[in-house]
Amino acid sequence: MAHLLITGGAGFIGSHTCLVLLEAGHSLAVLDNFTNSSPESLRRVVELAGPSAGRRLEVVRGDVRSHEDLKQAFEVAPVDGVLHFAGLKAVGESMSQPLRYWDTNVGGSRSLLSAMAAHDCRTLVFSSSATLYGYPDTVPIPESAPVRPINPYGHTKAAVERMLGDLAASEPGWRIACLRYFNPVGAHPSGRIGEDPNGIPNNLFPFISQVAVGRRACLDVFGGDWPTADGSGVRDYIHVMDLAEGHLATLDALLTSGEQLLTLNLGSGRGYSVLEVINTFRAISGKAVPYTIASRRDGDAAITVADPQLAEQRLGWKTKRNLHDICRDGWAWQQANPKGYSR
Ligand code: NAD
Ligand code: UFG
Repeated sequence: MAHLLITGGAGFIGSHTCLVLLEAGHSLAVLDNFTNSSPESLRRVVELAGPSAGRRLEVVRGDVRSHEDLKQAFEVAPVDGVLHFAGLKAVGESMSQPLRYWDTNVGGSRSLLSAMAAHDCRTLVFSSSATLYGYPDTVPIPESAPVRPINPYGHTKAAVERMLGDLAASEPGWRIACLRYFNPVGAHPSGRIGEDPNGIPNNLFPFISQVAVGRRACLDVFGGDWPTADGSGVRDYIHVMDLAEGHLATLDALLTSGEQLLTLNLGSGRGYSVLEVINTFRAISGKAVPYTIASRRDGDAAITVADPQLAEQRLGWKTKRNLHDICRDGWAWQQANPKGYSR
């Protein structure tokens, strides 16, 4: 069993991944400054993972950019590998506060890598994003597609991938995976942990569930004239538990193979339109989801869908859950926690 450092482990994807890692028997140190999360998510992760889990999860409240905080996190126990989720992720905010994004996402990764080298740990799984494909020329999108980000958030992810490529080439000891997530959604089937966005959600799923639960009146569908079957945008939604299991498979691959740099899409390979998502959500929740067709949102592409074959080849992993599972589990979380972790 490995001892792992999880940056940003209290967040949406990090918390679900911590649960899967604890269930696989690993021990964890989580470094999080809780800027976009709550310690309550980790308390619930421990509760779900069972009696021995509390002794295998140490929380360090701190910032991934801080040398001192990183030192404290690395000193919990010798670290076999790092999963680096900590970062800022709102596209619109990245356009108004680009330096904050470069500082946290790129500066934070840079500080983490130095601390890893200083503590003789060279195994890293990095949370990258399909956003770095920008407007793709072809779908499904393979990893060989051009990296052409169209916003500061995407630029920071591309810059970190570049930094990691340089590092892997510099020294044979590094084992690095850049995981390009498509659209992570859903929740753990228990309804105990899930996505808890601050303020008005930017993303489709949390917005739909907040409309269904009565927190918001109506959803704007951004564009009804896209070149898709029903005119609404198409995305590759991946259940967060599939994503969490993808991290476990990646970690196993890095710890057991000689692979130095793996760059993989994590997606299902299946796209759904906004209207299909709304209809499935309505059917499962039994709730109305009023919507209006609004104008297109700046920066959106018509269709983004992963080509997930490389991940299957390299990891023996593929998604197991479908849109029905996503809506069922996301709705269970929303119903049980209408105000997220703050209740
Ligand atoms: P999240 O905001 O829920 O989780 C990020 C966590 O990092 C939070 O707990 C936050 O408090 C913490 N954090 C932020 N800045 C920090 C800092 N300076 N020091 C320590 N902790 C810090 O986001 P998420 O959806 O779980 O995303 C995790 C990662 O995956 C991010 O890097 C994000 O860019 C990437 N990603 C997310 C999506 C998505 O749609 N959710 C898609 C692609 C990639
Ligand atoms: N949409 C609406 N109404 C809304 C919100 C979204 O119609 O209120 C539509 C969008 O136009 C798009 C689809 O729903 O067609 C999905 O939009 P999201 O905002 O949920 O997700 P994006 O595909 O824009 O982007 C997400 C994350 C990015 C990440 C990307 C790829 O926000 O950070 O997936 O992983 F990079």
